[in-house]
Amino acid sequence: MRIYDIIKKKRDGGELSTEEIDFFIRGVTDGSIPDYQITALLMAIRLRGMTTRETCDFTFAVRDSGDRLDFSAIDGIRADKHSTGGVGDKTSLIVAPIVASLGVKVAKMSGRGLGHTGGTIDKLESIRGFRTTLSEEEFIAQVNGIGIAIVGQSKQFAPADKKLYALRDVTATVDSMPLIAASIMGKKLAADDDCIVLDVKTGSGSFMKTVEDSKKLARLMVDIGKGAGKKTVALITNMDRPLGYAIGNALEVKEAVETLKGQGPSDLTEVCLILAGEMLSLAGMGTPDEGKRLARRAIEDGSALAKLRELVLAQGGSPAFPEDLPEAQLSRTFCAKQSGYLRRVDAESYGVASLLLGAGRNRAEDTIDYGAGILLHKKPGDHVREGEPLATLFSNREDAFSAAESTLLAATEVGTEPPADEPLVYDIVE
Ligand code: URA
Repeated sequence: MRIYDIIKKKRDGGELSTEEIDFFIRGVTDGSIPDYQITALLMAIRLRGMTTRETCDFTFAVRDSGDRLDFSAIDGIRADKHSTGGVGDKTSLIVAPIVASLGVKVAKMSGRGLGHTGGTIDKLESIRGFRTTLSEEEFIAQVNGIGIAIVGQSKQFAPADKKLYALRDVTATVDSMPLIAASIMGKKLAADDDCIVLDVKTGSGSFMKTVEDSKKLARLMVDIGKGAGKKTVALITNMDRPLGYAIGNALEVKEAVETLKGQGPSDLTEVCLILAGEMLSLAGMGTPDEGKRLARRAIEDGSALAKLRELVLAQGGSPAFPEDLPEAQLSRTFCAKQSGYLRRVDAESYGVASLLLGAGRNRAEDTIDYGAGILLHKKPGDHVREGEPLATLFSNREDAFSAAESTLLAATEVGTEPPADEPLVYDIVE
């Protein structure tokens, strides 16, 4: 079998066989296929798509590219959540400790930033000392000890996705339904969780721009999860505008802490409570509404925040957390050019601007400026006056501001009428 022929077949719209997909994923994992051929096939898949059968085969090949984790040594129900990626999406940092504080085990594998979106692992690494790599024994012992562990992809675990993820990030091949489904579900199936809640983002800042496509992606992933014997639910949530006020790693960690103190933005808090309610319900703790009530109580009584601190300490994070989170040395204020209602804060462009400030990667080997990002002062629907600050931009690079400011200028609209209300959650796919 030759990778050249596989690329050509997909380029011409053909359907790849199980053997061809296995051959490709094996070559990605053992390094025998060079990056230029991997990315050529990724682009062909991005442009030509995949059938459900191909997507399932791709998912299983990613799952089997490394060790399957065995969580049988973890006592109790194990639940996980995964987002398809958004801007200002720090929900895992909030939902995971809430659920763990209520006794459901959270044994979680997360990803890094992808394209214009942020990733939980980059956010956690903005906490001084936080280790996102644990051995399987450490991981299981930690989940048994404190009920929660969050790690990134490792050489042993779904290694094909680690490689594909990094290449997709820098080759405009992220926004592909089969590649997203295989990436997320390959990891989820390699882990040994009982329940999975998927947060499928929809709108400008997500990889699926329409509710219709997001529903298709949700259906595909739920079917793969259920087919593999996992309780799986997907929520379709709004990503036309950034979630909360903070975009960028350390800024988002701070906002997650505020939310766990009960002082977070209303949109972020509501989405987190709904996600936590679904996870608790799948784990057998009543209806989603009852789960949501439990989640709210875990915020109010401080137990969820205490669980986040426990997680940080257990994984080597600074005892001074969150007071010593990194901050950028430089900042600029972005002001309204006219008075009126803030109508549009385009999530994708705000994500790109944050990346330009240093919060994300342009090339796979780029390092992250953990203090970089954007803090919004206004959200769509707010009334603003000319000259009033709409956002503060943070970076450690003086030369990063002008491109970021121009991006925000084109992505922000103020008008005489307030924008139409948009739902936070569009649908639930069971
Ligand atoms: N999250 C993932 O893990 N993979 C994707 O492809 C997109 C979001």
